[in-house]
Amino acid sequence: MATTLAFDVYGTLIDTHGVVSALQTLVGAKAQAFSQTWRDKQLEYSFRRGLMQNYQTFAVCTKQALDYTCAFHKESLTDEQKAELLGIYRVLPAFSDVKEGLTQLKGAGFRLYAFSNGKADALEMLLNNAGIRDLFLGVVSVDDIKTFKPSPGTYSHFLRQAGATGGSAWLISSNPFDVIGSISAGMKSAWVKRSPEAIFDPWDIEPTITVKSLFDLRDQITKCETAT
Ligand code: 2OP
Repeated sequence: MATTLAFDVYGTLIDTHGVVSALQTLVGAKAQAFSQTWRDKQLEYSFRRGLMQNYQTFAVCTKQALDYTCAFHKESLTDEQKAELLGIYRVLPAFSDVKEGLTQLKGAGFRLYAFSNGKADALEMLLNNAGIRDLFLGVVSVDDIKTFKPSPGTYSHFLRQAGATGGSAWLISSNPFDVIGSISAGMKSAWVKRSPEAIFDPWDIEPTITVKSLFDLRDQITKCETAT
């Protein structure tokens, strides 16, 4: 059976810091730090909701993280300004290697899926807007099982939905917690190290492979699959 690739969406295919230029208008020089706090809190809220088994959608985590971030950076944005930022979040751009990289992988015969914390409707909108939805066989959301990555159930859910097994499926992610979570749940995983400064958590669980962009995946995965 062809190898299945599950692509994480936020931070891997889609640039969550695509809000920075809008933030520059709203919070000036704090834009980069504001964007980083927002993303960190969004993920923290999803982890905590998963642990507490008190599920709300990823969009709720994103909205509540924005409220926290305004308080943390002492920026009193109006409801309209917050709505504008959340609107941009729904149409964030893809990284520059994504469309061509996915097209190459699809052409090479890999089975491509998007797999994310986001709800299916938000993902469909995001991927359509970025012009990459048609490259995927399907879009799998953790919302189906009301918890978040890196709960092991999310990776099993993906495998069931994609009709794949851990041994023949890879999680492709720029998020170290996602790479570690998928390997811990029995998948293989490629870490897309999008910045030279990115740090991988020292947990004694290493990525199966590390790549700089999606363009390196085809050769490295093929090499790995033929060696095993
Ligand atoms: C995603 O699931 C974790 O943000 C990441 O798309």
